[in-house]
Amino acid sequence: MPFTTEELFINSSNSLYYGLNALSHNLIMADRKKLKNPNGLILGTPGSGKSFSAKREMANAILVTDDDVIICDPEGEYGNLVRQFKGEVIKVSSKSKDYLNPLDINSNYGDGDAPLKDKANFIMSMLELVVGGSGLTAEEKSVIDRCLPKIYEKYFENPEPCNMPILQDLYDMLKGQEEKVGKKLATEMEIYVSGSLNVFNHRSNVDLNKKLLCFDIKELGSQLKKIGMLVIQDQVWNKVSQNRGNKSTRYYIDEFHLLLKDEQTASYSVEIWKRFRKWGGIPTGITQNVKDLLMSKEIENIFDNTDFVLMLNQASGDREILARKLKISLPQLRYVTNSNEGEGLLFFGNTIVPFLDKFPKDTILYQKMTTKPEEVR
Ligand SMILES: Nc1ncnc2c1ncn2[C@@H]1O[C@H](COP(=O)(O)OP(=O)(O)OP(=O)(O)O)[C@@H](O)[C@H]1O
Ligand SMILES: [Mg+2]
Repeated sequence: MPFTTEELFINSSNSLYYGLNALSHNLIMADRKKLKNPNGLILGTPGSGKSFSAKREMANAILVTDDDVIICDPEGEYGNLVRQFKGEVIKVSSKSKDYLNPLDINSNYGDGDAPLKDKANFIMSMLELVVGGSGLTAEEKSVIDRCLPKIYEKYFENPEPCNMPILQDLYDMLKGQEEKVGKKLATEMEIYVSGSLNVFNHRSNVDLNKKLLCFDIKELGSQLKKIGMLVIQDQVWNKVSQNRGNKSTRYYIDEFHLLLKDEQTASYSVEIWKRFRKWGGIPTGITQNVKDLLMSKEIENIFDNTDFVLMLNQASGDREILARKLKISLPQLRYVTNSNEGEGLLFFGNTIVPFLDKFPKDTILYQKMTTKPEEVR
C-alpha cells in the first residue's frame, strides 16, 4: 500500500517511549513485557547513543512502572543518573568500602525449596574460577558440599545479618577437614581471604533492597573482574527470585561482549537469557562490539531468545553481518548507516520501525545521562 507506514504504539499504562517514528513522526510507545521474550540488545558504534537509550528507557521505567532496575556498569557512567533517582551505587573494587558478600543467602534464594543447594552451585562455580584450570575434582566438590551446611548452621538457627558466613568461615572449615584436598582448596582460596584480593571477604554493607541498583566495577582489577561479575550475577538472581510473582526486574549489562568472551561468564549470561523471562526478568545487553558478540559460541542462543533490538549507527562490516542475521532490507539499512546519535532501527517482535530521538539538552535528565566529557564536567 502506498502512503502507509508501520507504526509501533502500544496503548498501555506500562508503555515506554522509544523515540519518534522516522517516517511518520508519530510517537513510538512500547511495552517489552508484551513480547514473547522481553530480552533485549542495544547495538551501535561508540558514541551512537547506546548507553543513552538504555538510560532513557530505565529512567522512563522508574517513573511509570514499579519494576526494579539493576545495572552492571563496567565504565562507571551510570552513577549520576542512579543517584538522581535515589538509587544505590555500589562501587566494587579493592579501594572501595562498599562490600558484597558472595555467601549472602535468603529464604527465596534459587527455586525456593532448597536455597542452600542452589547456593552450593554458585559457590562451586566461584571456586572453579578460583582454582582455574579444569575446575574442581569430584573429591573437592564432595568436601565443599560437606562444609557448606556447617558454615550456614548458625545463620539458619538465627537468621541475623551478623550470623551470615563469609569466605573466611569457608576457608577455616575447609582447612579443618581431614582430606588433603580440603587444605589444598583452603590454600588456593587464601589470596581471596587474607591476601591482596580479599574484596569479597566481608559482610554486605550496602542497601540491596533499593528499587534501583548500580554495580560500578570500573575499578575492579582484571584478576577480580570475572569473579566480580559472577558475584553480581548472583545478586541479580537473588533480587529476581525475591521479586518473582510480584514485579519485574530489569537488568542492564553494558559492554556485554566482555561477558561473552569467556566461556564461564558466557554460559551464565546465556542462563539469564534462557531462564530470566519466567522469573519476570527483563535483561538488556549493550555492546559496540558486534564482531565479538557474533563470534561467541553462545550467540545463536542469545539471538534466538531476543525479541527486542535497538540498532543504532553501525560500522560497515557489522552492518552487512547484521543485515543477513536479522533479515534487514537495503532501504532499512539506510537508518543505521552514518546515522546521528539516537537514530536507528527498532526491532520489536515482528515489527521493525526506524526511529529518531533528539533528547532536549536543557534538562536535568540530559545532564545526568550524557557521557560527553565536556558536558559531564
Ligand atoms: N537520543 C539522544 N538525544 C540527544 N543526544 C543524544 C542521544 N543519544 C545520544 N546522545 C548524545 O551522544 C552522546 C553519546 O552517547 P552514549 O554515551 O549513549 O554513547 P555510546 O553509544 O554508549 O558509546 P560507547 O560505546 O562509547 O559507550 C551522549 O552523551 C549524548 O550527548
Ligand atoms: Mg556506552
